[in-house]
Amino acid sequence: MNSPTGFDYVNGKYVNVDPIAAMFNDAWLSQAIHMILAATVATGFAVAGVHALMILKGKNISFHRKAFRIAAIFAVISAILQPLSGDFSAKDVAKRQPAKLAAMEAHFKTEENAPLIIGGVPDEKTETVKYAIKIPGGLSFLAHGDFNAKVTGLDAIPKNERPPVAVVHYAFQVMIFLGVGMMLIAFLYLFILWRKKGWLEKDGC
Ligand code: HEM
Repeated sequence: MNSPTGFDYVNGKYVNVDPIAAMFNDAWLSQAIHMILAATVATGFAVAGVHALMILKGKNISFHRKAFRIAAIFAVISAILQPLSGDFSAKDVAKRQPAKLAAMEAHFKTEENAPLIIGGVPDEKTETVKYAIKIPGGLSFLAHGDFNAKVTGLDAIPKNERPPVAVVHYAFQVMIFLGVGMMLIAFLYLFILWRKKGWLEKDGC
C-alpha cells in the first residue's frame, strides 16, 4: 500500500497482476524488518510480563524464571534493533513518501537544517506546532544523514493532498515513545544481568 506496484490500473480495473512484484515492492524491506521486530518486541515484552507477574506472585518460580529469560531474549534483541530499523524506515519514507514524513514530524515548512520536533500540539490552520521540543537539524540528519539537508515540508504538498497532521504526529510520537522506552528497559535489563544479578534473585530462588 505504501509503494503500490505489480499491477496496471486500466479503466477502473486492476490488470496484469504480478503478486511477487507487488510483494517485493520498493518499501518491502524496511517495512518487513520493522514489522517483524514490532511483532517480536511486543510479544516478547507481553510474555515476559506475564512470567514476571507469576514470579512476583511466587507461583512455580523456577519454571517462570526460565520462561521469562526466553521471552526476555526476544524482547531485548528486538527492542534494541527496533529504533535502528525505525531509522532505516524513516530514511526510506523521506525518499518515497515525503508528505507522510512531513505529517509524522509535523514539519510544515520546507527547509534546510530542519529541526526534529518532539511532542507538541500541531495546529493545521496556522501551520505551527506549540509546546514542542525542537532539536535543530535533527530531522535533516535523521531523514538524510546530513544536518543541513533540505527536508520537504507540507507547504510543498497541495492542500487537498495533505495527510491529516495532528493524528499522524501524535501516533508517531507514541510509537517513538514506546520504542525508546522499551529500548531503555532492554539496556537496563542487560545492565542488571551484567552488574546487579542479585536484583533478579531477591526472592531467594
Ligand atoms: C524509536 C523507535 C521507532 C522508530 C524510529 C520508528 C519509525 C517508524 C517509521 C519511520 C515508520 C513508517 C514506515 C513506513 O511507513 O514505511 C514506522 C511504522 C511503523 N512502526 Fe515504528 N518506529 C519505532 C518503534 C516502533 C515500535 C516499538 C513498534 C511496535 C512495537 C513500531 C511499529 C510500527 C508499525 C506497526 C508501523 C507501520 C508499518 C507499516 O506501515 O507497514 N514501531 N515506524
